[in-house]
Amino acid sequence: MTAMAERTARSVTTVLQAMVGMSLLTLLLLSADVDAQSPRISSFKYNGNGCPSGTAVGEISVDGLVITMKYSAFSATTDQGVSGMRKSCQLNIAMTYSPGYSFSLEMVTLRGYTFLDDKVKATHKVSYYLTGQTGTGSFSGSTTGPFDDNYEHSGPVTPKVWSPCNLRRNLNVKAEVRVDNSANRSGAGFIDVDTKDVVLAFRLKWKTCK
Ligand SMILES: *[C@@H]1O[C@H](CO)[C@@H](O)[C@H](O)[C@H]1NC(C)=O
Repeated sequence: MTAMAERTARSVTTVLQAMVGMSLLTLLLLSADVDAQSPRISSFKYNGNGCPSGTAVGEISVDGLVITMKYSAFSATTDQGVSGMRKSCQLNIAMTYSPGYSFSLEMVTLRGYTFLDDKVKATHKVSYYLTGQTGTGSFSGSTTGPFDDNYEHSGPVTPKVWSPCNLRRNLNVKAEVRVDNSANRSGAGFIDVDTKDVVLAFRLKWKTCK
């Protein structure tokens, strides 16, 4: 090695050492401060008799905390026997975040259209759990006929189930619609979450672990 090459090699090493030192420092700053990644939705999959393949789209908000689903085949009716009276769609939502954070599902907004004869009831329900963990939170809204209009149910999910502090968890959400004419067997009803402007929106929230 010439003296020149040796000097170059040494200065590269010095630069590398400095970089290692710097990235350690950066990591410390990250874990202590705002740049550590807080929980956000990264992707999702869906399946169920309310959302056959190719019939759902989901939009994730820029902050990664809201997912808005739209469906093109999600409805339940009294006209197709018992199996038509209840439909569901499971969402498996992948989350990304740094250790030291915990998240839960906070709010749900459910919108659709329902037609109901006297005493016929429609229910739109959402429940969730975290993979590998016990506990289910839910929110639901019901409408009783006579009714023929759009509806919206919105509110907090209870109870809150928080992800554990040091494990990354996926969020599993089940959305379900059903019609019930047991109080008026000759009455008809359907509930529809498949028109263009209706949504299921889920808002998450997070906290840092103490
Ligand atoms: C059941 O619904 C039908 C259709 O709307 C209505 O004519 C009838 O009065 C209802 N029956 C009862 C018991 O409410």
